[in-house]
Amino acid sequence: MEKTIALLPGDGIGKEVLKVTVDVLKAIEEHFHHQFQFQYGLIGGDAIDQTGTPLPDETVEICKNADAVLLGAVGGPKWDSNPPALRPEKGLLGIRKQLDLYANLRPIITFQSLLDESALKREYIDGVDFIVVRELTGGLYFGEPSERITKDGEEGAVDTLIYKRSEIKRIIVSAFEMASKRRKHVTSVDKANVLETSRLWREIAEEVAKDYPDVTLEHMLVDNAAMQLINAPKRFDVIVTENMFGDILSDEASMITGSLGMLPSASLSSTGLHLYEPVHGSAPDIAGQNIANPTAMILSAAMMLRHSFDLENEAKVLEDAVNQVLQSGKRTADLAKGGPSISTEQLAEEIKAIIAKSQ
Ligand code: NAI
Ligand code: MG
Repeated sequence: MEKTIALLPGDGIGKEVLKVTVDVLKAIEEHFHHQFQFQYGLIGGDAIDQTGTPLPDETVEICKNADAVLLGAVGGPKWDSNPPALRPEKGLLGIRKQLDLYANLRPIITFQSLLDESALKREYIDGVDFIVVRELTGGLYFGEPSERITKDGEEGAVDTLIYKRSEIKRIIVSAFEMASKRRKHVTSVDKANVLETSRLWREIAEEVAKDYPDVTLEHMLVDNAAMQLINAPKRFDVIVTENMFGDILSDEASMITGSLGMLPSASLSSTGLHLYEPVHGSAPDIAGQNIANPTAMILSAAMMLRHSFDLENEAKVLEDAVNQVLQSGKRTADLAKGGPSISTEQLAEEIKAIIAKSQ
């Protein structure tokens, strides 16, 4: 299979984890006789330093000409005091908007060998397997106006929570599609007791549900969802929610299964060009030391192989390789609890060795 993959390393450990993930993908390419073309683009702080903008047009072009996009992470203290337009996160919001990446998927799955890494008790998390589907291009993060105002003669500020019917419908359809291939249960999270956008959301969820008679729909208020994620995470299959609720709940959910360094994500687009990135950020505190855990990035690449290229077997090989390394007891520093650890590059080498022996 011939595919072009756009690579946006970004900043900090984004560069390190993406670099070794490319090595792992090259091992997949060789072992399974595919041809992957890699095209690099600048984004985030690095792009600001080199081009004066967090998302150069050239980067958008590189992405649009590719079959899938892999992103490391952006940001760092160096750019924290920049004006809003020159912040690395602008690059991230920009690429989401430009590629119309409207659905952010975060699978939350427990790894048997990491059951004791979670802040939650083993029995609560053993067997957790759900996916958070977060709306990514609407809501408060993009609504206008978003600015400083004068209210009653005082300084104030306004942000706008706004959704169109079509924006809500497509994300809910994505969630139902996913649920119909899983355990057939959708939890739609909102704040319908307070917000009009949530009441519209609920209405549309009910309408979409009629097209999926074998999928059960439940509605849950976001504050209750925050509690249930901790109290009974196993009850969930597919959670679907708007942008800001999804931002908060998906970070909360990621803590159920342990380290940030383990968690991949996919952002799906209406055009079929999807973007894959780890959940974690650029981790400036450990950048440049070759100690970051590349698993989240590698598992994001596995999601790419599955969702964008339909390479289910290759995706499984990568996921199994991650599991095998964990079971062998070899850990990067974030999981080693102060004990012996392996480097970012060594972990990738372990995974490559397993790929080379796979079917
Ligand atoms: P972070 O996710 O970068 O780091 C949080 C903590 O987890 C740090 O102690 C870090 O060392 C650790 N960590 C994260 N990923 C790890 C990995 N793969 N292996 C081992 N340890 C890992 O979040 P933080 O510190 O809040 O943000 C740092 C920068 O990253 C900020 O500039 C922030 O804006 C940016 N950021 C970017 C994101 C993106 O590009 N998608 C997402 C989140 C934050
Ligand atoms: Mg977040």
